Amino acid sequence: MSEHAQRGRKIRLEHRLQFLKNLHWAICREQTPKGVCPLNIKGTPVYHRHIEQSAELILCFSEERIMMTETQGQRFTGKSDTGVAAITEDSELLKLGYAKRGFLPEADPLTAFPTGSRYAVLDEIGRDLPSRLYDTGFRAYARDIEIPGWQGLVTDENLPQLRLYYVRVGFLASAYVNQVGEEPAKVLPRNIAVPLVQAAKLLERPPILSYDGYALYNWKRFRKDQPIRLGNIDTLQNFVQMYDEHWFILVHVEIEAIAADILAAIASVKRKLVENDDADLSPELWRIEDAVQRQVGVLKRIPEHMDSSLYYKTFRPYIRFFENVTYEGVDQAPIQFRGETGAQSSIMPILVAFMKVPHQQSLLTDHLADMRKYMPLRHRQLIEEVEVMPDIRNPSYKEPYNAILDAMSAFRKVHYGWAEEYINRWTGDPRGTGGTPYIQWLKQMLLETEARRL
Ligand code: HEM
Repeated sequence: MSEHAQRGRKIRLEHRLQFLKNLHWAICREQTPKGVCPLNIKGTPVYHRHIEQSAELILCFSEERIMMTETQGQRFTGKSDTGVAAITEDSELLKLGYAKRGFLPEADPLTAFPTGSRYAVLDEIGRDLPSRLYDTGFRAYARDIEIPGWQGLVTDENLPQLRLYYVRVGFLASAYVNQVGEEPAKVLPRNIAVPLVQAAKLLERPPILSYDGYALYNWKRFRKDQPIRLGNIDTLQNFVQMYDEHWFILVHVEIEAIAADILAAIASVKRKLVENDDADLSPELWRIEDAVQRQVGVLKRIPEHMDSSLYYKTFRPYIRFFENVTYEGVDQAPIQFRGETGAQSSIMPILVAFMKVPHQQSLLTDHLADMRKYMPLRHRQLIEEVEVMPDIRNPSYKEPYNAILDAMSAFRKVHYGWAEEYINRWTGDPRGTGGTPYIQWLKQMLLETEARRL
């Protein structure tokens, strides 16, 4: 067998293993009280806990089809509709919203609480925040605010409200701790800490404003019939009264909107691999490359409305990490949390997972793993799903594969330039708002991306 054919076979086998695992979960989960798996492999009943191991063995030595037991009364082949349906149902990646909106919410974020809502006071607090922050009495004012606690649990219906609640209270908390002109506060007062922790628990995330609240949920469109693109979008909440901050956030938002094409293409790769082992994946790979190049184009627009001599001292301090802060009324022990950073966006991690860029385990990449805790839960799951997709680094895809890597490197190069220009040039502190030694860290990831070329 030629090297090419062997690679192709390996990809198919790896994919089939993942396929089997998905099928296993789709069928077996909560349906096997005694731990007996309803799948038969080669006619031999297997037990729930052994199935993944057995599947691996089978896939290593043969390309046998997997059959369902007689009791299930159905046959299953790798290409059957049943199998595809099982994978589709189980897959986060194949949910339609991602191909339309990427990691942005499926519906545009709520811009204000409904009239008469008990949370409506937060809209006023949020609107006044940038002006209030000019006052040295801001912290005294903030300690006195009455923030209505979140009532009830989270549902599909109230999720947009909960996100807006987290945005408003998260901004307030970061403004309080990191008010410009003051030493960072060591205590977050109870009236802010308790509601923030409560909302964060419901959203299954740490209680601090992160990338989701600063960018993913913080935009509106001027014209709903026009795309999510610079010129048609604005922010909902800010720390400062400077268009620079709007622009900084909105550049992220347009880059997130473009990511829908990346996720649509990766989903299509997944579907093709399930349906047809020999499918040509080149169109999807070129689609990803094109989307990342467009993201680079948007990233390059940063200086259009962002002054590098102002960023580091005006609004950057507000998104800084929390160091030894006690959340009054919640926990007596001082805690540390990472601040908001683009490193909490799921776009680059998805590309890294799909392209299998090996970021060496080190103190630096531990930051990468830790950033995931600050992402929405479903996005974390999606990254994990892409991580176990087969490696498509294959000589037959050399051209589009390298083109994607080049586009990712271009993104990381331009981005590294902004870190130099907007931060390193102005401040000696080696830590990013997310708490990484950013110059070294960003450089390492750029070099490892370039080294992955075929
Ligand atoms: C003036 C503009 C920007 C500056 C100064 C900047 C700065 C930084 C810094 C310092 C880090 C290191 C992590 C940390 O905070 O500790 C970082 C990480 C990151 N940022 Fe930005 N950033 C900018 C704009 C953007 C934009 C618009 C995006 C688009 C989504 C973005 C995406 C990322 C990503 C993906 C990482 C993780 C590193 C990687 O995977 O390459 N950044 N950024």
